[in-house]
Amino acid sequence: MIPIQRPSIGFEELEEVKKVFESGWLGLGSVVFEFEKRIEEFLGTAHVIAVNTGTSALHIAFDGAGIRKGDEVIVPSLTFCASVEAIIAAGATPVFCEVKPDSLNMDIDDIIRHIGPKTKAIMPVHYCGSPCDMDSLLSIGKEHNILIIEDAAHAFGSSYKGRRIGSFGDITCFSFDPIKNITCGEGGAVVVHDEELAEIIKRKRNLGIDREAWSRYKKKRSWYYEITTQGYRYHMSNINAAIGLVQLKKIDQFIKRKREIVKRYNEAFAIIEGISILSWDLEETAPFSYIIRVTNGKRDELIDYLASKGIGSGVHYIPNHLQPLFKPYSTSLPVTERLWQEIITLPLFFDMSEKDIEDVINAIKTFFTS
Ligand SMILES: Cc1ncc(COP(=O)(O)O)c(C=O)c1O
Repeated sequence: MIPIQRPSIGFEELEEVKKVFESGWLGLGSVVFEFEKRIEEFLGTAHVIAVNTGTSALHIAFDGAGIRKGDEVIVPSLTFCASVEAIIAAGATPVFCEVKPDSLNMDIDDIIRHIGPKTKAIMPVHYCGSPCDMDSLLSIGKEHNILIIEDAAHAFGSSYKGRRIGSFGDITCFSFDPIKNITCGEGGAVVVHDEELAEIIKRKRNLGIDREAWSRYKKKRSWYYEITTQGYRYHMSNINAAIGLVQLKKIDQFIKRKREIVKRYNEAFAIIEGISILSWDLEETAPFSYIIRVTNGKRDELIDYLASKGIGSGVHYIPNHLQPLFKPYSTSLPVTERLWQEIITLPLFFDMSEKDIEDVINAIKTFFTS
């Protein structure tokens, strides 16, 4: 079976994990700080806080930014449920909005329609790695005094107008889970540009323990610590950071190869009737996943057909406003409701062989032409 996604990991990652084992320091420590430093260099930014998942990154970003009960956050319904659960975990209310059919990224006009007195944040999701219209989002944020908290789980390595996602904006959250553009096994990061906010989020990732207070007293009383804010046990471990450090060195080759595969798919599928390909800017995008729209009503049939040929596929995502848990926040989103019946995710990962790519293309061609 060709899977939809698979991490590209091996001996080098294992060697670095072995070193962590040998050091005896498995938890939050020097390897995590090194990983944060390397990500800061990669993005060209000053404050990266590494955490244990992308979901915790989102939750701690909202909490650290002071988003609370009674506040509203505008979020696309077509995203992974983690985006929405993070809003609810912070006590706030998700307000679902539409996405654009060509990119599956947030529809800016629909965001504007949903802004109200309680709106405190907008959460753009850079779908498949394709950057959202950040200029419009940041200017809306400025105009209405609303934070832009980016769910960049798909977009590590992507750029917007030549600037890396995470190097500008208000708050950016990444995921380094097993299938993301780079993996730590599990992991995530919050990126901010404000020193004070960085300090709050750093404390919150480790139960609110104030490291500054600890360093003030450590000479005299090394056991001393102060808890100055309510926090969580969300820090990244040295084991996960060791994997991430190796992966980060490979990011350019990961991006290059995945761009080539997307290009091959696009060329093959653009001419098939019944398929609509998404718009891709392959100069800027570090592709995370590959999605097409099946416009002849045969999406479910295609999933079954591909499975019969040993090819994995999936639907990312079932809109959150249709999920039982999120019923209290449900609303009518006709574009999203149509789109999700059309989308199918096809295999895309660094280690795909030429034969894997050909098999996927040929199976799709056969399905639509026979
Ligand atoms: C859009 C989106 N947001 C958030 C997450 C959560 O990341 P993690 O799995 O690291 O918790 C994911 C993970 O798949 C995602 O796709």
